[in-house]
Amino acid sequence: MTVTRSVVLGCGAYLPERALGNAELARTVDSSDEWIVQRTGIRQRHIAASGEMTSHLAINAARAALADAGVDAQSIDLIVLATSTPDQTFPASAVSVQAALGINHGAAFDLQAVCSGFVYALATVDGLLRAGNAKRALVIGAETFSRILDWTDRGTCVLFGDGAGALVVEAQQQPGAREDRGLLTTHLRSDGRHKAKLYVDGGPSSTGTVGHLRMEGRAVFKHAVAMITDVIEDAFKATGYTADDIDWFVPHQANKRIIDDSAHKLGIAPEKVVVTVDRHGNTSAASIPLALDVAIRDGRIKPGDLVLLEAMGGGFTWGSALVRW
Ligand code: UT7
Repeated sequence: MTVTRSVVLGCGAYLPERALGNAELARTVDSSDEWIVQRTGIRQRHIAASGEMTSHLAINAARAALADAGVDAQSIDLIVLATSTPDQTFPASAVSVQAALGINHGAAFDLQAVCSGFVYALATVDGLLRAGNAKRALVIGAETFSRILDWTDRGTCVLFGDGAGALVVEAQQQPGAREDRGLLTTHLRSDGRHKAKLYVDGGPSSTGTVGHLRMEGRAVFKHAVAMITDVIEDAFKATGYTADDIDWFVPHQANKRIIDDSAHKLGIAPEKVVVTVDRHGNTSAASIPLALDVAIRDGRIKPGDLVLLEAMGGGFTWGSALVRW
């Protein structure tokens, strides 16, 4: 008996042209390249140009993913865009992507789970594909966090950056074995008791303004590793795979120390860990597809590889996904 799996056909990414290095940033905020590198691993982040919006980044990433997959935009019948920095309160930025790609069938919507957005979007798309609601989807993570940062708050403004990444995912029949291609398991979690540790101090229904990102960095850090490892253990339990079986670990890119500690606790060898936080900073929902794109372009991730994804962020939300490429 065969089962329906969501198989990855292609990946694409887009970064705004302007790269902002630590030294340049430290000229306007009380920080230093040394502090930022030592505490976070970040060396630079990209910043969207004036007038360049989340949907623009998403459209570029989506086009690159379609080209990589070698499929026509008209074959897409579902677009899910993970973002916490949409162009407007509504409509969803996903419909701007849909219109720019010339698609007027199927469905397009945004999904908001902050830094866990891409894993949440993948799980959502997987459910819709396996239920037969769609056949071929674009799963996008795109953010312009530079627009919601308080550039005078050194505890947050040095951490985040802008960018977008996308996957083309298709429903395919697979044998129903551990060796299948596609998404093998996804695990989503949240705990709203922690909502005040990482939030934006504005919104349409509260202040009527967009607001700025606020974070108790140390408190988030304290929970991150335990939550990440917990939800990855769930993925191992569900599939029978172990850390040794993983070819590539592509975590959300928030802080090099969180990534290293999580990999160490799980027993994943450092050479299997894809790290891009040095170049991209924390791009929230875009960080995983951006990192996937880097590791595909440089030849690390190849068809057949077992790839482990995880993310943790505001809410708190967290999640994992295990994919055979
Ligand atoms: O993606 C969503 C999830 N978000 C995260 O995963 C972020 C999690 N948190 C972190 O990555 C870390 O907590 C930070 C990078 C935000 C901070 O690192 P830390 O090692 O936890 O530092 P801290 O907040 O405990 O601050 C240590 C010191 C403080 O000074 P005092 O009180 O010891 O004198 C801060 O004021 O470092 C100071 N500090 C800075 N110094 C220079 C905080 N930010 C900066 C800065 N430059 N940018």
